[in-house]
Amino acid sequence: MARLNLKLLLFLLIAIVSCTLITYIFNCGHPASSHPSFIQRLEEPSLRESRGKFYEELDCSINGMYHISCRKEGREVFIPFSFLEKYYEVYGKLAKSKGHEQFEWSHSYSKVFKPTTPYNASGMFMYFSNYNVEVRDRVKCVSATEGVPVSTQWEASGYYYPVQVAQYGLSHYSKNLSEPPPKRKILEDGNMLTAKWQVPKGAYIKRKYDSAKLTRVLEFHSRDGPGISLRLKQGTDLVLSFDLRFLSANGSLTFFLEDRDRSQIFPVSFTCSSVLVEAHNSSGNYSTIYGMGDCQNWKKFTRDLHIDLVKGHVLSGRGKKLSRTKLRIHHLLLKGNGQLDNLTLASSNHMDMFYSSADWLVRHQDSSGGWPIGVKRKIASGRADLDPGWYSAMGQGQAMSLLMRAFYRSGKPHYLESALKGMQPFSKSSTEGGVRAYFMNQYPWYEEYPTVPPSFVLNGFIYSLIGLYDVVSLAPLNQVGDAQLLFDQGMHSLKKLLPLFDTGSGSVYDLRHFTLGLAPNIARWDYHSTHINQLLLLSTIDSDPILTNVAERWISYMSGKRAAHN
Ligand SMILES: *[C@@H]1O[C@H](CO)[C@@H](O)[C@H](O)[C@H]1NC(C)=O
Ligand SMILES: *[C@@H]1O[C@H](CO)[C@@H](O)[C@H](O)[C@H]1NC(C)=O
Ligand SMILES: *[C@@H]1O[C@H](CO)[C@@H](O)[C@H](O)[C@H]1NC(C)=O
Ligand SMILES: *[C@@H]1O[C@H](CO)[C@@H](O)[C@H](O)[C@H]1NC(C)=O
Ligand SMILES: *[C@@H]1O[C@H](CO)[C@@H](O)[C@H](O)[C@H]1NC(C)=O
Ligand SMILES: *[C@@H]1O[C@H](CO)[C@@H](O)[C@H](O)[C@H]1NC(C)=O
Repeated sequence: MARLNLKLLLFLLIAIVSCTLITYIFNCGHPASSHPSFIQRLEEPSLRESRGKFYEELDCSINGMYHISCRKEGREVFIPFSFLEKYYEVYGKLAKSKGHEQFEWSHSYSKVFKPTTPYNASGMFMYFSNYNVEVRDRVKCVSATEGVPVSTQWEASGYYYPVQVAQYGLSHYSKNLSEPPPKRKILEDGNMLTAKWQVPKGAYIKRKYDSAKLTRVLEFHSRDGPGISLRLKQGTDLVLSFDLRFLSANGSLTFFLEDRDRSQIFPVSFTCSSVLVEAHNSSGNYSTIYGMGDCQNWKKFTRDLHIDLVKGHVLSGRGKKLSRTKLRIHHLLLKGNGQLDNLTLASSNHMDMFYSSADWLVRHQDSSGGWPIGVKRKIASGRADLDPGWYSAMGQGQAMSLLMRAFYRSGKPHYLESALKGMQPFSKSSTEGGVRAYFMNQYPWYEEYPTVPPSFVLNGFIYSLIGLYDVVSLAPLNQVGDAQLLFDQGMHSLKKLLPLFDTGSGSVYDLRHFTLGLAPNIARWDYHSTHINQLLLLSTIDSDPILTNVAERWISYMSGKRAAHN
């Protein structure tokens, strides 16, 4: 939501929609009945004009601590919104409504998604179809070797964050279910002779049978020439997938993207190197480079070239303003000696991206069933820090949600096995490298951040419960293992502890005020609405009224309601 520009310190005589706020500060004490007449006066321009000067300057003393400049009109006092906005952390903007300008005030900026159907473990994951994980600023790029995003949230050089990898996969799974089928075009599959490759003198291409892959592939050798190219006529779809391997060490595949406005061309290259992402601009030749790692073996790549280009732009300081609709692929270029198959252009490829995440999780799970997080996590300035290698119950849970969907869709048992192994840290204490803590030695809790003493983060705990529920729902009955028990114990703890997260006007993110003796960590509105969305989801699979009662009360806080005081 666009905030009112602070420079608009316009004493706009903004109708402070609720006189309560004035009452708070000035004790101006208008009886409730005067409220309508106050509104009426504002709507009568003649009244203002007849008075000539319709307001006076007024000094406002804020809690006796400092002064700001206000306005007085009759007995009414007007306080600048730019002040109220910061003082109360509320939101407002000028907007047009039915042809009239009005001021729109809101207490929070976040949204609640009320579920219309019961939660389905093989369906969309919450409202993740609205997520664009790879676009986020804290995602450095999508790695070409791993096919998953690289985070810079807690370490600028970049690292793989299992929570983010799982969210990337779950958002693409959800988009696969929410969006219409993609447009798809195969450009080269080793069979068609329609792809018009331009082969310079000395270079060659041939289509041949690969006896290991049992399919026909395109073999190419550029020798020392400028490379073998393929011009694309339309090229407005920017999601590419291809199977590729190189027989020489220094091959590359480059896509030339054209900005249709400025008719500039931006190459995005994939090379046989360990480079994560680099942007170069030497002698005015700009290029973005991704390393595919070791190129000797067949590997499938699925790339969103818009994302790939924008991440290079961000790296080189050009910013991320590059609209997807303004780009098209002009041509592509093969260099070196290698083989190519299944070169496909599509408007999206959510399932490939989903399986990239699932496969990453399978590859990177350790022998304790965990997905270790390789960066230090500071929770409360020096206290309860987590050293690299920690597990997150949220990471474990979201990985389980993703892997169970991969098992459901593909039927491949290794996804199920990985999800089941992912439960192991739930039975191990945080003090012993697991994620399990107890509240007052009594209620088990699965820790998003397994600190000692525990932090009891609410949203991460609920994500871990959803992961357990997905295992219970989709695993064959005789293989569910501890999932049901862990889920039931967790739900019991949630219902017991939920009231501790209620501040009477919002929710707290964790219980550090109890375990670390710090000030409460109030949840900002998007976390508050996440809490609500999660409770509403759980209420579709557990009818205990505490879930809906708390959710409804917390929803009312978002429009300014507070619990009554004594
Ligand atoms: C759950 O979602 C899947 C995938 O969208 C769908 O095929 C299935 O019918 C859904 N099940 C129920 C009970 O709605
Ligand atoms: C979703 O996946 C199915 C199966 O792979 C595919 O047929 C469908 O086109 C996909 N839809 C989208 C929007 O990705
Ligand atoms: C590359 O550098 C040249 C000047 O050396 C500049 O004009 C051009 O805009 C740069 N290109 C990009 C894509 O940053
Ligand atoms: C820049 O591109 C031009 C045209 O493709 C080429 O002739 C020149 O050698 C390139 N310069 C560098 C430094 O790569
Ligand atoms: C690849 O390396 C070989 C040997 O080092 C060299 O002759 C050739 O020019 C290189 N090819 C490309 C496309 O860079
Ligand atoms: C190309 O795709 C087909 C169909 O999915 C697959 O059988 C074949 O192995 C793929 N080619 C390569 C080289 O992986």
